[in-house]
Amino acid sequence: METTTTRVLVKRYSPPQPSPYFQSFELPFSNDMTVLDLLTKIKENEDGSLTFRSSCRMGMCGSCAMTVNGKPVLTCQTYAKDVVKENKPMLVEPLRNFPVIKDLIVDIGDVFEKMRSTMPYVERMEKKAIADGTYKQSSKERKKLEKTSQCIKCMICYSACPVYGYEKDFIGPAAAALAERYNQDSHESAEHKNERMNTITSEKGVWKCSFVGECSSACPKRVDPAQALQRLKIMGSLHIAKEVTKKIINKP
Ligand code: FES
Repeated sequence: METTTTRVLVKRYSPPQPSPYFQSFELPFSNDMTVLDLLTKIKENEDGSLTFRSSCRMGMCGSCAMTVNGKPVLTCQTYAKDVVKENKPMLVEPLRNFPVIKDLIVDIGDVFEKMRSTMPYVERMEKKAIADGTYKQSSKERKKLEKTSQCIKCMICYSACPVYGYEKDFIGPAAAALAERYNQDSHESAEHKNERMNTITSEKGVWKCSFVGECSSACPKRVDPAQALQRLKIMGSLHIAKEVTKKIINKP
């Protein structure tokens, strides 16, 4: 297979080192090699101390997300031939908007906390006995969850989101998409959904989204978190109106 050579500049950072720096590598690559393949080659043959995450190598686990030539991508799904520009080095950096732990590994704990706050599970208030059978869901009802269920938690949407870049308490795209997924689930109870909506409509919730849409453009799974956020804004307004009405009616 035809091979070309490229210069790859990889951002390195290893605390307590004071500041990050770029390390340069000259690498041959063929048309079937991904950016992750190049990083693996560097680790195996050039510098074993280079640190990055990866697992499935097929765009399913979300662990290999990094910034390549300024864009957040899954490196196992990005072919080197598509990002190598003539006479220009390929830039590989960690995902933006996250604290760097080491080299290309970032700390994503904050987003997992945000996801947890949306109570990403179904809770039924009235449960039936096992003998009474399963809770059915029609294919039409299932279809409503199809898009938002595709999220692989790769954090690319948070890296692309300018609002999350400067407002770290913003709940953000993937957590909103997850909330929308459970709100749309026909198995979910109104009470549990209501509780979730209290988080969604809080100060840290969906209102901070300015609908730039970068999250949806960058998402490798076409989850469309920007759409989920706008839908939650509408549902959130109705939720607040209902809560206020309830308070007025119940006022002694
Ligand atoms: Fe799993 Fe890239 S290694 S998505």
